[in-house]
Amino acid sequence: MTELSGDAQDFETRQIHAGAVVDAQTNARVTPIYQTAGYVFSDFDDGEERFAGQSSFRAYSRNENPTNAVAGQRIANLEGGVDGIVVSSGQAAIAATLFALAQAGDHILATRSLYEGTREMFRGALRRQGLEVEYVADDASEDEWASRVTARTKAIYTETIPNPLNQVVDLERLARIAHTAGVPLVVDSTVATPYLCRPIEWGADIVIHSTSKWLAGHGSVIGGAVVDGGRFDWEANGERFPHLVTSPRPGVASFAERFGAGAFLAYLRTVTVLEYGPTVPPTSTFLLLHGIETLSLRMDKHIANSLAVAEWLAEQPEVAAVAYPGLPSDPFHERAERYLPRGAGAVVTIDLAGGRDAARRFIDALELVSPMTHIGDVRTLAIHLGSTIHAKLTEEERLDAGITPGLIRLSIGLESSRDIIADLQRGLTAAGR
Ligand SMILES: Cc1ncc(COP(=O)(O)O)c(C=O)c1O
Repeated sequence: MTELSGDAQDFETRQIHAGAVVDAQTNARVTPIYQTAGYVFSDFDDGEERFAGQSSFRAYSRNENPTNAVAGQRIANLEGGVDGIVVSSGQAAIAATLFALAQAGDHILATRSLYEGTREMFRGALRRQGLEVEYVADDASEDEWASRVTARTKAIYTETIPNPLNQVVDLERLARIAHTAGVPLVVDSTVATPYLCRPIEWGADIVIHSTSKWLAGHGSVIGGAVVDGGRFDWEANGERFPHLVTSPRPGVASFAERFGAGAFLAYLRTVTVLEYGPTVPPTSTFLLLHGIETLSLRMDKHIANSLAVAEWLAEQPEVAAVAYPGLPSDPFHERAERYLPRGAGAVVTIDLAGGRDAARRFIDALELVSPMTHIGDVRTLAIHLGSTIHAKLTEEERLDAGITPGLIRLSIGLESSRDIIADLQRGLTAAGR
């Protein structure tokens, strides 16, 4: 584990202050919503400089907006990265990252257990664009991983705590495998949040978030973020990443030369996000920033509630299995203790002994817990996976992904654990009927 820069202050302080700039005209304390499409050039030369990226001022809000910049800097700071950007959704963050690394004909290696929306994108839109994603079991040998790497491989992709089954990955090992192969490790750390785990400390190069989840925390916005760890050597691996190490046009230095450690994020911001335009509205970012300010406090309570609920669920006869690495009996507990010492997140997934019929009765009996898709809300949420998020898969594909007929994903909220358990009891009583 590596000590990172930017940690002079404690997390609780940085989640409130990092990246914030006091508005020069009004001295407003809270980061304002800069709801503007563009920015007036002071004169002809200023316009030219802004377009050439030679000015600290901005040109257009598609890829540069002061409210969004504060959030990008704050999340980068909390993750221990060198630069960050917020975009319109978690999906957009994943797509933009891979488009900034790879092109048609290229290849990405990924661990098997990933959020189904990501897997859907990998076998859908990305494949249609000519990007091939190949899955490897997380615990495959290093030789097995190495044997899958080709000259067209551009990244290894994983999730810190995979949604929905919580099979915590061995980040340090994956980073080693990626770096031996000469590619960056890209980690979707949505479920962990930077409060529970900072993948860059374990060797990850790029960290992605759906900020719609715990970072915002209130369930009122959709957004995403990408953070550059700043330590991947693009120059040394320049054959794989020519767009980062060669001059984009005569007279202009390469991204690696111009931006050094921040080369990837600079490319993502000034090329990928500029060209594709996955812009998040600054009004959403304003709400995101308010969420981030209380992240540590909320996560402590999410963890305490999740543990209490998981311990209770593990004792219930209607529940065949509980996937929550915070439980000492969970197969991923030891790894969680290493990578997630503050707690193993707030997704508790249960397999109901009575299968799909029991799941239907469970969902329909809930009164406090909201049956809906989403995670990372102050409210406790429940979803039957096989009939919703994983419904497009065949039964065989579902079982291969560990999605059994009775599987319910719970996102444990901030209500009192007693009230959450009382409602889950109502659901289990119905399930057991
Ligand atoms: C782990 C993970 N990554 C990415 C996403 C996509 O994020 P968004 O819904 O903000 O597009 C989700 C959504 O559930 C997720 O759980």
